[in-house]
Amino acid sequence: MNIHFTEKASSKGILIVGIYEEKILTESAQKIDQKTDGLLTRVLKNEPFSGKKKEILSLVAPYGLENSTLLLVGLGKKGSLSAQDCEVIGGHLTSHLMTLSQQEACLLLEGIEEKLLSLPEIAAHLAEGCLLRSFYFDKYHTQKQSEKKSILKTISFVLPSQTEINKATQLFESLSSVAKGVFYTRTFVSEPPNVLYPETFAEELKDLTKLGVKVEILGEKEMRKLGMGALLGVAQGSIKEPKLVILEWQGKDKTTKPLAFVGKGVTFDTGGISLKTADGMPDMKYDMTGAATVAGLLKTLALRKAPVNAVGVLGLVENMPDGNAQRPSDVVKTLSGQTIEILNTDAEGRLVLADALWYTQDRFKPELMIDLATLTGAIVISLGNEYAGLFSNNDKLAEQLYQAGLDVNEKLWRFPLHENYDKDINSAIADMNNTGSSRKAGSITASQLLARFVNNVPWAHLDIAGVAWSSKDDDLYEKGATGYGVRLLNKFISTYYET
Ligand code: BES
Ligand code: MN
Ligand code: ZN
Repeated sequence: MNIHFTEKASSKGILIVGIYEEKILTESAQKIDQKTDGLLTRVLKNEPFSGKKKEILSLVAPYGLENSTLLLVGLGKKGSLSAQDCEVIGGHLTSHLMTLSQQEACLLLEGIEEKLLSLPEIAAHLAEGCLLRSFYFDKYHTQKQSEKKSILKTISFVLPSQTEINKATQLFESLSSVAKGVFYTRTFVSEPPNVLYPETFAEELKDLTKLGVKVEILGEKEMRKLGMGALLGVAQGSIKEPKLVILEWQGKDKTTKPLAFVGKGVTFDTGGISLKTADGMPDMKYDMTGAATVAGLLKTLALRKAPVNAVGVLGLVENMPDGNAQRPSDVVKTLSGQTIEILNTDAEGRLVLADALWYTQDRFKPELMIDLATLTGAIVISLGNEYAGLFSNNDKLAEQLYQAGLDVNEKLWRFPLHENYDKDINSAIADMNNTGSSRKAGSITASQLLARFVNNVPWAHLDIAGVAWSSKDDDLYEKGATGYGVRLLNKFISTYYET
């Protein structure tokens, strides 16, 4: 979709004006009201539309205007508009525009004055919301789904002067690098597992080289040599070769310790020999969302040339149940030297992360480590699809992540870690088992295991099993892959690590 900022309103397609709560007309709305002989005043008197944030009212072909549709959009209480509000309004508006059969829409912003944001900022954040919501994945439809498919091509934002247009354009450029990272993540997550598996995923990531990201790929041989017995144990039931992908973005001098991001990239999780049941199994194509989120984040950092050093480590494996698959009761030796008894081959994410986390801290000596994983069904039971679970050995890091989550509305809720949970992962034969002894606190016992592989580095684990995929449309995404985490971590980095 094309988005631009301009001085001139289009007389074609849909014309949009903002209305504040309690039916207060913005300056552009007042002008339209005059042009149309008081149409808006009349309509607002009789319609339930009051201008609350995100409210929409569509008026078809009003007399006195060349545009085919006039759309009113609610901006909420005057003076209270935040960046996040703008994004949500822009996104919601776009979801509506995409259902109409028009190619062009034009939003009039002249005269809007707000307390928290300048006019160019309002325009850029609205545009970012529009862009985020415009993404859809339909690579595999060969027949056009005519009623479903939107024909919307362009959204333009009208600003009063060239100075404001330039400012908005510049700001939008930086914001759209975030959207591009989010789209990168959503695309990987949307791909089916016969197309996207460790080798093809890794191959695709080489593309980031063009943006200045260093891409390194380890195969089975290299990982065997290193001693990644836990990750390799998961992979051994699949004919697909596992890969460990290391992404490095250097935006600061070499001596600055990097921020490290580690992603669970199980390209398909059948459960292995502890096979999952049929219903719900198709969902397990998105069990690589953690890795895809790390990739999207690094893409964003590179696109906006963020002044930070960051590494991404993606553990890519497929969890399958063939004749060579690992068995419940196998014991594997991790890269750290610690041993794990496999009680359930479906608790594979923590095994992949155990080796990926240890590798990351050992090689990069990072400032901090954050892992993302669709790790447990238990987190979905706890938090549903609203919050992701946050686990951390460091209060400051946890607090910063929590705050960044609020800022971009990708919410986190912190869970406890405590040594008393450790008895649940004791094993008679090895240093630990991979499932916990009961179903109690499943997300916490999983994190207790991860904590043993971070070597006291400040670390946070985000369990994103409930937020990676959505079964319904939202303001900023269509149903499917949400891209959760890219905006959150980008915000975390820009707020706390860029000075
Ligand atoms: N990938 C799943 C977790 C998951 C569930 C992700 C739902 C997304 C949506 C994970 O590998 C898994 O199977 N976990 C098991 C662990 C159990 C066997 C200890 C679970 O949560 O049931
Ligand atoms: Mn599993
Ligand atoms: Zn899994």
